[in-house]
Amino acid sequence: MKKMKDLADDYEIKPLSDIYISELLKLQENAFLNLENEELLRRNSEATLLDCLVNHYTLGIIYKGALIAFGILYFGKLTSENIGYDLDLNPDEIIKTANIKLIIVHSAYRGNGFQRRLIRELETEAIKRGFKTLACTIAPENFYSIRNFEACGFGFCKQKQKYNGLIRNIYSKKI
Ligand SMILES: CC(C)(COP(=O)(O)OP(=O)(O)OC[C@H]1O[C@@H](n2cnc3c(N)ncnc32)[C@H](O)[C@@H]1OP(=O)(O)O)[C@@H](O)C(=O)NCCC(=O)NCCS
Repeated sequence: MKKMKDLADDYEIKPLSDIYISELLKLQENAFLNLENEELLRRNSEATLLDCLVNHYTLGIIYKGALIAFGILYFGKLTSENIGYDLDLNPDEIIKTANIKLIIVHSAYRGNGFQRRLIRELETEAIKRGFKTLACTIAPENFYSIRNFEACGFGFCKQKQKYNGLIRNIYSKKI
């Protein structure tokens, strides 16, 4: 695994456009290759990831020209994708809720705190856009992700069946 000191701060963090679709898909496959348990992660289709690049906010970490991590801030509006519904918020609060939909760090670059960096950057962007609540779902066995979201101030709300019956913990943060 490559540690930050080896990366020599030589990485760039920037919003991604649709030209990154194939890199996003590759990184998602890397995550599945290194997953102990397929239930930890939901595989997103190319169309979903393209929608995230075009209509939502996807932040990438680029190192030596390659995408090594990304995080998606998702604006669910009044659709069932908005986790605000699982938090029992009223419609005014739901519309001001954004999801952190997915964060993936390439297996070779884990351990550099990139997930926490991405969560904080996505939170800053959500505040800029006027959102008041951030929410996410995490598999109960995804200890690394739970630890990072809690370190960023997210609190556990409830456990629920989501996504074709998969059990997910729902976390949120007032921003
Ligand atoms: C969850 C995830 C984003 C965390 O990556 P990260 O930001 O690099 O993790 P951290 O910097 O907090 O790592 C802390 C320690 O845990 C280890 N670690 C992190 N993720 C790990 C994993 N999936 N498996 C084994 N060890 C892992 C790191 O190597 C590091 O170890 P060290 O202290 O010995 O160096 C990454 O594991 C990942 O991409 N997982 C697959 C996708 C996923 O589950 N995303 C979250 C759902 S939203």
